[in-house]
Amino acid sequence: MSVSRGGFSSRIGFIMAAAGSAVGLGNIWGFPTQTASNGGAAFVLVYLVLAFFLAYPAFMAELLIGRFGQANAVTSMQKMSRTAAQKKFAFFVGFGGIICAALILSFYGVFAGWMMSFAIEPIAILLGSDSAQWFVSQSIFRNLLFTTLFMFLTIFIIRSGVENGIEKWSKRLMPVLIVLLVSLIIYVVTLDGAAEGLNAYLNPDFSRIFEPDLLISAMGQAFFSLSLGTSVMIIYGSYISKEENLVTLGAQVTLIDVSIAFLAGLLVIPAMYVAQAQGVVIFAEDGSLISGSSLIFTVLPALFDSMGSMGLFVGFAFFILMSIAALTSSISMLEGPVSYAVERHDMPRSKATLLIGLGILVLSTIIVLNISFMLDFVATLATQYGQPIIAMLCCIFVGWIWHRNEILTEIKKGYGEVENSLFWKIWPIYTKFICPTAIGVVFIHSL
Ligand code: PHE
Repeated sequence: MSVSRGGFSSRIGFIMAAAGSAVGLGNIWGFPTQTASNGGAAFVLVYLVLAFFLAYPAFMAELLIGRFGQANAVTSMQKMSRTAAQKKFAFFVGFGGIICAALILSFYGVFAGWMMSFAIEPIAILLGSDSAQWFVSQSIFRNLLFTTLFMFLTIFIIRSGVENGIEKWSKRLMPVLIVLLVSLIIYVVTLDGAAEGLNAYLNPDFSRIFEPDLLISAMGQAFFSLSLGTSVMIIYGSYISKEENLVTLGAQVTLIDVSIAFLAGLLVIPAMYVAQAQGVVIFAEDGSLISGSSLIFTVLPALFDSMGSMGLFVGFAFFILMSIAALTSSISMLEGPVSYAVERHDMPRSKATLLIGLGILVLSTIIVLNISFMLDFVATLATQYGQPIIAMLCCIFVGWIWHRNEILTEIKKGYGEVENSLFWKIWPIYTKFICPTAIGVVFIHSL
């Protein structure tokens, strides 16, 4: 199916790549953290509902834009536009998503760098190095070094293109990620204290389900997790063959994404209670569970320390898992801007990858040098403002600008009977009315 611009060579290649983009620090760090700070299972329940009923339809809209356009986000959306005003709007939405992906990568690379340095610490201890502590202590030099290393890994993969870069590496790394995750869960749930953690994770406090803060966090988490509003799923959609059934492919990717978030919760929340059984403090002064970066970088390492030499292996496996998850996501973030530069400005792929990758690295460096203010600022700008707005505009584009008949023709490719399906009865209404309204309401509320 590969055309000259490249494409996924197989169905499984697309699934691994799109799931690789979706499954990232958002699933393994963000989701358990949000669950811990939003009262456990109630959050899980709301998240599941929003992921399938709000994020999946928006995800389908982005995949369809890409598969129809067979091009980067801007060109794809402009192909759907008829008037000059629509073309301008298409540029705004498509390019906005590309900028959003670049901004996310700039801070994501810093977090990913931390994961890599925490993965190296156990190796340094095993080798008897005196400097092991350096890898887990905050310093500008450490942050710059590992962010740069991570960015070069991302650049290395994206330079090789869709089939030999994104697809090949996603197919290698995603199975490793799943095996690591499942092995860690099996180990952790056998330890003292895990049962209490499972209880906190799986027994919902229904009274919290309609709390506005919980709804906002769950929606933000679902959109971040499916990489929406960043042009990433548009470009991945553009690399799928016209013979594939997009409706099921999209559902499969959503299912993998949600399942891995759920599994990450099965690992992290019980691990917190195991840590408590070992004497580690897991509740903050106000009685809530410790979350955010302290959970990953203080509570869990304290747990690994308490396990003796076994803890070295568990800690290593955990932070390698995090690093892999981050890498399969970061490559998708870089592909958005790179495909734009290659297709719209005729730049050779390797040059575009290097230039854009280095540009984003400069931004990461500025973040590292002003970490206390910039990290939060860029993350909020991109994920709380950029992503929901662009995702909403994509739905509006598909629902209001793209002709219904054209949409149907596009979905029919690979799914001839779609007209009689439940999907076609519900989804158009979703993208036209429900998704934009719900995203808008939650967004305004979050301000
Ligand atoms: N979905 C990724 C995660 O959960 C993050 C991501 C956001 C990837 C935007 C691509 C684009 O970590």
